[in-house]
Amino acid sequence: MPRRSKPDSSANTTPSTVKKIGKTVRIRRIAINTGGGDAPGLNAVIRAVTIGAIHRGWEVVGIRDGYNGLLMPNDYPDGGIIPLTLEAVRGITHLGGTILGTTNKGNPLEFPVLQKDGSYKTIDRSGEIIRACRKNRIDAVVAIGGDGSLSIANALYEKGLRIVGVPKTIDNDLSETVSTFGFDSAVSFATECLDRLHSTAEAHRRIMVVEVMGRYAGWIALNAGVSGTADAILIPEIPYDIDIVARKTVERVKQGRKFSIVVVAEGAKPKGGTRSVLEHEIGRAERLGGIGETVAKQLQEITGQESRHVVLGHLQRGGSPTTFDRLLSLRFGAAAIRALERGQSGVMVALDPPTVRYVPLKKATSRMKVVPLDCDTMLTARDLGISFGD
Ligand code: F6P
Repeated sequence: MPRRSKPDSSANTTPSTVKKIGKTVRIRRIAINTGGGDAPGLNAVIRAVTIGAIHRGWEVVGIRDGYNGLLMPNDYPDGGIIPLTLEAVRGITHLGGTILGTTNKGNPLEFPVLQKDGSYKTIDRSGEIIRACRKNRIDAVVAIGGDGSLSIANALYEKGLRIVGVPKTIDNDLSETVSTFGFDSAVSFATECLDRLHSTAEAHRRIMVVEVMGRYAGWIALNAGVSGTADAILIPEIPYDIDIVARKTVERVKQGRKFSIVVVAEGAKPKGGTRSVLEHEIGRAERLGGIGETVAKQLQEITGQESRHVVLGHLQRGGSPTTFDRLLSLRFGAAAIRALERGQSGVMVALDPPTVRYVPLKKATSRMKVVPLDCDTMLTARDLGISFGD
């Protein structure tokens, strides 16, 4: 199982250690883009980046829908890039979504192109992005995204674009940062849902199975499950045995606790089985879903206890960022601007309490941050008697 590695001190913030590519061009104009699934805090980052840049005398534009605004400008009657002024970013810190739009389709490094025979081939369109930046006098980009978007950012950096990444994802599965922004908001929401589900589960003496997001990493399931006092938590890192989960709920009934709460990450899989895939689509990651329903049905069959499932889905991505995420997003945005001012490029801002540091994009995107099975929260969960189905 991959583990979080020690911080790379060589990537720290002193200008003398900064890697510069080509000749250092004075920044006059920067662009911001948001890619991948949205997460609470995107607008707060956009605001901090915009204000920080304007205060340094730089002009700021936003690229619409990932890089689509540069790749398909004609699709946008008002233009694929929009000016970001102080007025444009006023009053957006607390808003969910992104004022720039986003997409998790059509990775520009492997852009799907339909062939005459109905098949698809993929092409690399990163060169077009670099040329479009030049054409639009964009000297540097702040790329806000998860592992996919930041891998694209790294490829653009390697081709010569000056770029700084900001780690976003509710899944919290990006390496080298203690937390991504959006994660705390998703966990807080999921925990509140678990609190609400307790009373109805108890009233009906049911098993409630709650499916949360978490494609390859079980951070949301673990943190919300422990905080929301779940009885079992199923995460992608630990293939589960449904009979063991069922035993846990039956034991509870014997102890007079006639209801149980089971949290399942969408990417959880049974021992010897595979993830529950809803749909394969060209040019994007497979869509997951359905594991909550499967687990609820199986538990009902095995235990005879009535079971229901709830999928929290995109509710976890919506709404206002928590205070933690707002502050983190503003800190990340401001830190990204400081990095550009110092001539840094090809780095991602990362939370390393009490500070924010910079790590190479390549390192941050080289492996996924999954839940270490011996981390303190896992140990806490086990000490509390929570089952992981293992
Ligand atoms: O942002 C990551 C994520 O929330 C995953 O947990 C989930 O599998 C995916 O996004 C869903 O994305 P979409 O917006 O395509 O449904």
